[in-house]
This record gives sequence, C-alpha cells and structure tokens, in this order.
Amino acid sequence: MIKSLNLGILISGKGSNMEAILKAIRKKRIPIKPAVVISNNPDAKGLEVAKKLGVPTEIIPSKGFTGTRWEYDQLIIKCLEKYSVTPKTGLICLAGFMRIISPEFIEKYKNKILNIHPALLPSFPGLHAQKQALDYGVKYSGCTVHFVDSGVDTGPIILQEIVPVKDGDTEETLSKRILAKEHIAYAKAVKLVAEGKVKAINMASKNQGH
Ligand code: GRF
Repeated sequence: MIKSLNLGILISGKGSNMEAILKAIRKKRIPIKPAVVISNNPDAKGLEVAKKLGVPTEIIPSKGFTGTRWEYDQLIIKCLEKYSVTPKTGLICLAGFMRIISPEFIEKYKNKILNIHPALLPSFPGLHAQKQALDYGVKYSGCTVHFVDSGVDTGPIILQEIVPVKDGDTEETLSKRILAKEHIAYAKAVKLVAEGKVKAINMASKNQGH
C-alpha cells in the first residue's frame, strides 16, 4: 500500500469543486489526506465550507500584492510546504483558482497539479468557456480534468464528462449543467491520481512528427 498523498486545494470563490472532493475524501472514496485549502481571495465562500469540513484554511491575498507572479507563488509554496504538500508528498488541485500560476511553480510541482476546465478541451480554453461553447453552437460540451503544464488549459487530459447543450440554453443554465458534472469528474480524477492509476508521461513535444 503506497503512503497517501497530502492534498492542497487552491480556490478563489465558491469552492463547489473543492467541496465535492473533500466530501468524497470524507466518505473514504479517495485515499488522500486533505491537508490545506488556500485562497487568494479573503472573501472566498469556499473558505467557510472547508472549515466546516474540518480542513485547515489559509488566505494569501493577491489583491494589492506588488511583487512578481513567481514571488506570489513562492508564498503559496511556503504555505503548501507547511502542510507537507511537497512535490514528493503532495498533490495540488486548482479549483476555481482565478490566477495564472508561474512556470517556476509548475516546474517545481511537475505533474502534481490538476485543474478542471468547464469545456471539452482542447476546445474553448481560457475564460468564459461555457459562453464560447454556446457562441460556437456546439451540441455537446462538458468538462475536462487535466494535469497543469505551462500552457493555458493544455496539459495532459485525465478525464472528461459530456453534457448536451439544449435549445434555449443560456450561459447560466449550461454552466450549471456542466458544474454538476465537474463535481463528479474532479473527484474521480483525484481518486485515479491518488491511487497511482494515472500518471502524466512527458512527451518531448505534442506536435512532433507532423
Ligand atoms: C468551475 O466552473 C471550474 O471549472 C472553473 O471555475 C469554476 C469554479 O467553481 N475553473 P467552484 O468554485 O468550484 O464552485
């Protein structure tokens, strides 16, 4: 039996994905220790939710921070280390964390950072993915859990869930339908990684050979 990893979750807002993961851990569905929830936003609703679930929370405000992106990320790393979320012993989930993280942070925690995106990547990366999908007129969308690499929403895909786009959908109704699937997908993906059933293999270049 491998020793369980320590999980750090980074949030900025509601934290409903965080909540889904923490509840799955509590039900013993995922063999991982919920070590810390860190928010860059002091008013993030998810902080209260994490506290209620008995998980330590930390706030590292990004608003008004005048240093570089890497300097900010070093504060996050120091905090993660305090809770033993290291590249060897930990796993990080970005769960609605509304900041781009630095290449240095990604390199240090190579293949140890997961993210969820509300579209079927590689379609509709970046902000307002649900609106992008609606505007394009796709008939199906969904969500993607992937390892984080240095691109925007480009890392190796762990799993995806699909939802239909219905006539008359608005950004709000589609987002809601996708979010319900996100909660299922994220918990499933963390379980796969925590159990060592999925690993990112670094290809020299995804575009090589064309
Ligand atoms: C989700 O739609 C997620 O895909 C995106 O941000 C949203 C976060 O929602 N990255 P929540 O804070 O987990 O409720």
